[in-house]
Parts: sequence; structure tokens; C-alpha cells
Amino acid sequence: MPATIIVGTQWGDEGKGRFTDLFAKEMHLVVRYQGGHNAGHTLVVDGETFALQLIPSGVLYSHITPVIGNGVVVDPKVLLDEVSMLEERGVDCSKLKVSGNAHLILPYHQLIDRVTERHLGKNALGTTKRGIGPAYADKAARVGIRVQDLYDPKMFREKLTLVLKDKAPMLAKVYNQLSPTVDEIADVYLNDLAPRLEPYVADTVNLVHEALEAGQHVLFEGAQATFLDLDHGTYPFVTSSNPIAGGAGPGAGVGPRHIDRVIGVAKAYVTRVGAGPFPTELFDETGAAIVERGHEFGTNTGRQRRPGWFDAVMLRHAVRLNSLSELAITKLDVLDAFDEVKVCVAYEVDGKRLRHLPDNQSVLHRVTPVYETFPGWGGDLSGATEPGDLPVRVHDYVAFLQDQVGVPIRLLGVGPGRDQYVQLRA
Ligand code: GDP
Ligand code: IMO
Ligand code: MG
Repeated sequence: MPATIIVGTQWGDEGKGRFTDLFAKEMHLVVRYQGGHNAGHTLVVDGETFALQLIPSGVLYSHITPVIGNGVVVDPKVLLDEVSMLEERGVDCSKLKVSGNAHLILPYHQLIDRVTERHLGKNALGTTKRGIGPAYADKAARVGIRVQDLYDPKMFREKLTLVLKDKAPMLAKVYNQLSPTVDEIADVYLNDLAPRLEPYVADTVNLVHEALEAGQHVLFEGAQATFLDLDHGTYPFVTSSNPIAGGAGPGAGVGPRHIDRVIGVAKAYVTRVGAGPFPTELFDETGAAIVERGHEFGTNTGRQRRPGWFDAVMLRHAVRLNSLSELAITKLDVLDAFDEVKVCVAYEVDGKRLRHLPDNQSVLHRVTPVYETFPGWGGDLSGATEPGDLPVRVHDYVAFLQDQVGVPIRLLGVGPGRDQYVQLRA
């Protein structure tokens, strides 16, 4: 029952999509278990770039069944548009499956996301404004509407009527916004989107277990990342789901005994989009150079990502939270141009040195990173394909990271292309 999870170990955009695509070659199913179209996963194959939001990153292979699990929040219009975009580019999406238990993102979720962010002013979280938080809030409050409800029009309308009884006056009175009506939403969702989505709707829990029972390989693709996790991230500057590896349990319906590999993906530095604490953040020209060389602008929203040095304290915590079996490091090539490269090995606060992440968030806001500095390698890594192609200084740097983090580093990304990586061990 070989199942693998790929998970982001920082604040997102680590390159999960490109390594999911790489591992998908050996898999049968690729399953998204949380998040929604707040994700942006980029694949670059033969010079062509694909930016995916909802469809699992294995979709480019014809042998893969891409699965959207029950834990994902689905905007059906975005999903169907993504299918059209891919099919226009020659990618067959006919095997796509979407859980009937996945919750829907409805127009009022996006409206609430937008107006509540505006209302927060300088305290805004910097969400993607896709309606993700409000949709998960409704799921937890047990007033969510699921994909399966699209196929019971009476129930869909009843649930919608109940929800809008609360939300419409709240939107009008607190935020001065007009909510779409039951008829307006039902017209689009029931008459247009539901029939087009229907061919993809499936019992995805059964599908995953049939695959596992048949000895097929299943890859669970995390979106967002460990420090955006609702429980373990830098709350409240988090997303509203559980991206950590354990999230695959509720989000796809698998127990922990099925999982035999958990691959963490980390950038050779750190980026973050949106607000929240970031101990190794760089505000100087080195940060600007990382942004420029790494093209650090959101795949999804186009916002500039905040840059910083690699943080081994965070990574040690990510190893624990996800029980990582190994690590893949991306964007090593972005550091090619630097004279020196830094790694945060500990934090200092109130005269104490911390090797592990403080439990108290207000402490995290006050820590000073302790850095170890490495000489740059002064060479272009982007053509490297074998460990022997890498300068000794790169091997030293990677060995140091591995020692700091405590799990094997198996893969190094040296460019965005599918083949631009070096495998350090089998
Ligand atoms: P994800 O959300 O974790 O899938 O990551 P994104 O796709 O949002 O962001 C990662 C960005 O870095 C994308 O533009 C990728 O094409 C790019 N990328 C991934 N790995 C590498 C790498 O090793 N080197 C370089 N230069 N770019 C990479
Ligand atoms: P991938 O899968 C980076 C961030 C947002 C914001 C916070 C909450 O591409 O790595 P939300 O819209 O989820 O309520 O926003 O989470 N965020 C991401 N940052 N990569 C992502 O996805 C993200 N998805 C959400 O910027 O700070
Ligand atoms: Mg991304």
C-alpha cells in the first residue's frame, strides 16, 4: 500500500507542484487533500508553463488519475475553467475525479473574504481573497454546501436559503454589500455549473482505497504549507485548512498506516506572501536580489513574495509536524549569484538561544536569527543533472542543511524545468 505525501515546509510556493509532477511519473493517483484555488502550482515542461490552482499536479501524465479529495474547497467555475484551459493546451482531463463531499465555494464566500479583509485595514491577513476562509468557516459551522448538493436542487435551494438568511443581512448591515440572491446563485450553480461538473464527481475515498488495495501508488499533494497550517502555523496569519501531512487523513479519507513516505519541499531560502511573522525576512538588496532572481511573484495573485534566508529552526519543526522522511530543496540556482549564503540555525530571544520554534507567537515576533554564513559557489547550477556536476561548496552547504534539519535531502531543484534537478540519493 505505497502512499506518499508531498508537503510544503515553509510558507508556500516551495515548488511542491514541480516535484509532484516529477514523482507522478511513478504514481497512479495524485490527490489534493485540502485548500482550494488559493494554491498556485507551477509546472514547466519542455519550455511550456502550466499554472494549476485546483487540479492536481500529476495531470500532465495520461496514466494519472487526478483526484480532488473531500477536504478541498471547490469553486466549480474555477475548476471547469482550469479543465478548459488544460484541454485547449492538449492535456486530457477526462480522468479527473472530484469528491461529492468536497465543500463548494459560493459567491458570498468570496464577497465575505474581500470585505472582511478590507474591514481589517492594517490588520488584514493578506488572504488570496478566493473565499477559502469563509468556505471552511461554513463547513465547521455545519452550514456548508457540498458538491453532492448540486444534484439535489431542492436541498441545494433549502440550504442556500438558510445560509443567506444570516449572511445577506450581515453583508448589508455590517459591510454595506448586496449579497447575491438564492435565485441568482441557483441559476448559475444548478443550471450551468452542475451539469458540466457531473462527469467528474465520484466517491474519491473508495477510489483511493481501491487503488491502495490493488497495490497502486498514490501521491497526496499538499497545497499551502506547514506554517500556513490552521493549527500549527503562525496563527492568525494562516490558511483555514491543514496542509500538514496529517491533513491527508481527514482530507482524503486515509489512515496514517497507509503512508510510507512524506516528502517535504523547501526553498533554499524562504518566501512568504501576505502578512505575519517572518524571523529571517530580508529588507535589503540581498532580499531584492532573491525576489528578482527567483521571480518571487505569486503564481496565483501576482503579489510580490517577501524574501528571507533559509530557516533551519522552522524546518526542524516541519520535520516533526509532518514526520518527514526526506526533503527536496528547490531554487538552489537562485543563490548562484551570491557571494555568501546564510542559514539561520537558531533564534536568540531574552538572552536565550532557541533551537526549536517558540510555542508562544509573541516570542516569535521578537526573535533574532543566529546565522551561519557560507561562501557562495560562484557558478551556474542550472545545467546540473548529477551530483558530480555540483561544486564542492554546494555539497558542503547541502550537507550542512541536512545536518541541521535531521532528515536526508534527496533532491535539489536547480531550475524550474521538469528535468532541472539533481538526485542525491535513490
Ligand atoms: P508551489 O506552490 O509550491 O507549487 O510553488 P509555485 O509554483 O507557486 O512557486 C514556485 C516557483 O518556482 C515556480 O515559478 C516554479 O516554476 C519555480 N521553481 C520551482 N523549482 C525551481 C528551481 O529549482 N529553480 C528555479 N529557478 N525555479 C524553480
Ligand atoms: P501554494 O499551494 C503561498 C497565504 C495567503 C495568506 C494566507 C491566507 O501555491 O503554496 P487564504 O486565501 O488561504 O485564506 O490566505 O495564506 N496563502 C499562500 N501563500 N502559497 C500558497 O499556496 C498560499 N495559499 C494561501 O497569501 O497569507
Ligand atoms: Mg504556489
